[in-house]
Amino acid sequence: MAQKTTELYRGKAKTVYHTTDADKLILHFRNDTSAFDGERIEQLARKGMVNNKFNFFIMQKLEQAGIPTQVEALLSDDEVLVKKLDMIPVECVVRNFAAGSLVKRLGVEEGLALTPPTFELFLKNDALHDPMINDSHVVSFGWATAEQLAEMKRLTLRVNDVLSKLFDQAGLMLVDFKLEFGLFHGQIVLGDEFSPDGCRLWDKATRKKLDKDRFRQGLGGVVEAYEEVAQRLGVPID
Ligand code: C5P
Repeated sequence: MAQKTTELYRGKAKTVYHTTDADKLILHFRNDTSAFDGERIEQLARKGMVNNKFNFFIMQKLEQAGIPTQVEALLSDDEVLVKKLDMIPVECVVRNFAAGSLVKRLGVEEGLALTPPTFELFLKNDALHDPMINDSHVVSFGWATAEQLAEMKRLTLRVNDVLSKLFDQAGLMLVDFKLEFGLFHGQIVLGDEFSPDGCRLWDKATRKKLDKDRFRQGLGGVVEAYEEVAQRLGVPID
């Protein structure tokens, strides 16, 4: 098994390490929780562990559905071994119900059902506050080819199908989510993470928010909500 060596990159919630295998990295999920492009950061006990196990569980489900992911092996409570991807700096967002920036941008009511779901692209750039971009920007600026972008969109919509059903069976609405992709030896592969830090999940019956909006909106009970989601899905967490 690949061994952790030097730090490659420290993100807002995860630290990425090189390993003894040039094709593999280790992601360390920290307890740091950030909002508003990193302007607000807090430590939330257990969050690194919960998100690491949550992400591993979801990525396994996606692999089983035929979606290529970077995940290789769960290493510890807060570390996972992954393929080293050449990351594409574009965020793919799907929305099944209106919330967050869509509500602000278009003035629609939170919770409005979106049929078919929307697909949006944002540039991953905190200094510019992750501006919304379109297909032509991605290709013209060389962030991905038209073919790679088409594959990212196809995979993102497939992830939505798989996970909407999974969460629905657990009594949850998958309101929206963000994915990031990278290239592994020329193939588009799902990278980064899938956790309640990067999606919106509401209880189906009460519409109670069980995701990072609890942190953004100061609602409290953030990690407790993540743990409730994990427990409902059957994610093994001590
Ligand atoms: O803020 P907005 O409504 O555009 O976010 C859409 C979805 O993407 C939400 O689930 C949010 O948590 C996620 N997101 C993210 N990282 C970002 C921007 C959005 O995980 N930088």
